[in-house]
Amino acid sequence: MEDDIQEEVLSEFREKRLGGWQILQLTAATGLTVYAVWAGILMPGFRRVPLKLQVPYIPASKAQVSNVMTLMKGRSGGIADLGSGDGRIVLEACRRGFSPAVGYELNPWLVRLAHFHAWRAGHHRSVSYRREDLWKVDLSTYKNITVFLAPSVLSLLQKKLLAELPEDALIVAGRFPFPDWTACKVEGEGVDRAWAYQIQELRKQYESKDNHV
Ligand SMILES: C[S@@+](CC[C@H](N)C(=O)[O-])C[C@H]1O[C@@H](n2cnc3c(N)ncnc32)[C@H](O)[C@@H]1O
Repeated sequence: MEDDIQEEVLSEFREKRLGGWQILQLTAATGLTVYAVWAGILMPGFRRVPLKLQVPYIPASKAQVSNVMTLMKGRSGGIADLGSGDGRIVLEACRRGFSPAVGYELNPWLVRLAHFHAWRAGHHRSVSYRREDLWKVDLSTYKNITVFLAPSVLSLLQKKLLAELPEDALIVAGRFPFPDWTACKVEGEGVDRAWAYQIQELRKQYESKDNHV
């Protein structure tokens, strides 16, 4: 009896072919759903950021965080993670004594998640997660910078860091190196690799290039 009903429903379904209008509706609905997930959950707060500067959230692995911290060994003072996601790098930096430890992140969901992680770890008073566009932040007070961003934005970020950071600043990039800079130290292998750059050295390299032109 049940088998008969199932067979009836299936044959009815088989006979119904989708027309052009239905295909169009289905495509539009799928497109809208994808857009809603992208704009509402993955990239909220990015409306004013040009498309070519939008970087999606991909969290750093444990090995990546550890490589970043190895390159930061011996350093102290303030640290900023540009595009801090769920705050894992900032939290680890705080555990290792960096202060202030600040994350800049546009996605409000991730900022909330970062606050929750910090609260759970008992460090909510020692870290700061700010919902701000990293391109608009004045970085001149930070001696330590970490970035896990896409290659498409690193070239532009080079200019901002060179213009704003103090002379004794160290920058650590994860996953992708800065395209025009030579790292002073590298840690890890493959996707977990991280690169360290001394701003003083970089400025010297630019000066000597200018002098040879
Ligand atoms: C690849 S994820 C890295 C997250 C985190 N640093 C980590 O390593 O786990 C890049 C992050 O940068 C954020 N982001 C991208 N553009 C930004 C901007 N203009 N201002 C602030 N945050 C931004 C994204 O929302 C995303 O969370």
